[in-house]
Amino acid sequence: MPQLSDALKIGDIDIKNRIIMAPLTRMRSQQPGNIPYALNAEYYAQRAGAGLIISEATQISQQGQGYPGTPGIHSAEQVAGWKLVTDAVHKKGGKIVLQLWHVGRISHPSHQPGGGAPVAPSAIIAKNSSTFTADWKETPILEPRALETAELPGIVNDYKNAAQNAKDAGFDGVEVHGANGYLLDEFLQDGSNKRSDNYGGSVENRARLLLEVVDAVVSVWGKGRVGVRLSPYGTFNDMHDSDPKALFSYVLEQLSARGIAYVHVIEPRSSGAGRADVKVDEVPSTSELFRSSFKGTFISAGGYEAENAKKVVAKGHADAIAFGRYYISNPDLAQRVIEGKALTPYNRATFYGGTEVGYTDYPFA
Ligand code: PHB
Repeated sequence: MPQLSDALKIGDIDIKNRIIMAPLTRMRSQQPGNIPYALNAEYYAQRAGAGLIISEATQISQQGQGYPGTPGIHSAEQVAGWKLVTDAVHKKGGKIVLQLWHVGRISHPSHQPGGGAPVAPSAIIAKNSSTFTADWKETPILEPRALETAELPGIVNDYKNAAQNAKDAGFDGVEVHGANGYLLDEFLQDGSNKRSDNYGGSVENRARLLLEVVDAVVSVWGKGRVGVRLSPYGTFNDMHDSDPKALFSYVLEQLSARGIAYVHVIEPRSSGAGRADVKVDEVPSTSELFRSSFKGTFISAGGYEAENAKKVVAKGHADAIAFGRYYISNPDLAQRVIEGKALTPYNRATFYGGTEVGYTDYPFA
């Protein structure tokens, strides 16, 4: 039976154990310019015991930013900052991929070039959702502007440039963020996509932008170093779809046919996407529903603790498990889980923004 301590080959990336550090928004890049710096390098290097680190979500363009302090991968300064991070992780024997992010409608004019409306597949407001302005004030989501069909190749190209920048910054690969109600997920699901062009309507049309982005990123990295994150049945950022089983089965089969390194699927039971400790029962298990639709490595995320993580990997419902919140408070989480040691609880008050407090000062066992 496979165990969390076993090594694994994810596409072309060899990892030393099956405990993955999930992408975690921490809003601590250097300002101005959203640039990673020495403190971020120390934080990631402390966590190099993970089989694989997935970086915090990182905007591919200024238009793709939705929160203050999140890092980017679209300027030369950001590439140089990320190089500090990848060097520090590699020096400690870790592996790290960059998560490529465009927030779509979950932004605010204060982050947008020219102060315009955030962009989305359709002009539909995400209800009961919020973000933070450039000066850190919580704000409800405003009405976005529907993207013109002619703008979409430019967005695909932004992903491609960002993927090349990630390569120049020394990452081991990239993960396309297709989850949690951000741009690519907004195109996938029919609650947020009411388009009448080739990017809306049928499942095939709604999946088109994600697949074009994946193909563009694969053209830079090769299929063995590209992963995709998805959140079927997730409700964060007001997401919903009329037939998630059909939609995500199609997406996973298409990704499988492309032979990419991995998919990373969030269990809907932790539907707050880290914003709250919600646990929803009576929802389908996505690892059970979708494992068979994808032939490569299947990473499962969402509110895991050591015991259920071990079981899911032993049963073969996933090949590796991503831990989020507990990786904030346990830099040596992989070793603790493998050795059965107690975990340090996390302090939600220091998740977002600030400096080393609640970031690089959590103890090793
Ligand atoms: C967040 O910043 O709250 C956030 C970012 C990326 C996610 C989920 C939540 O996928």
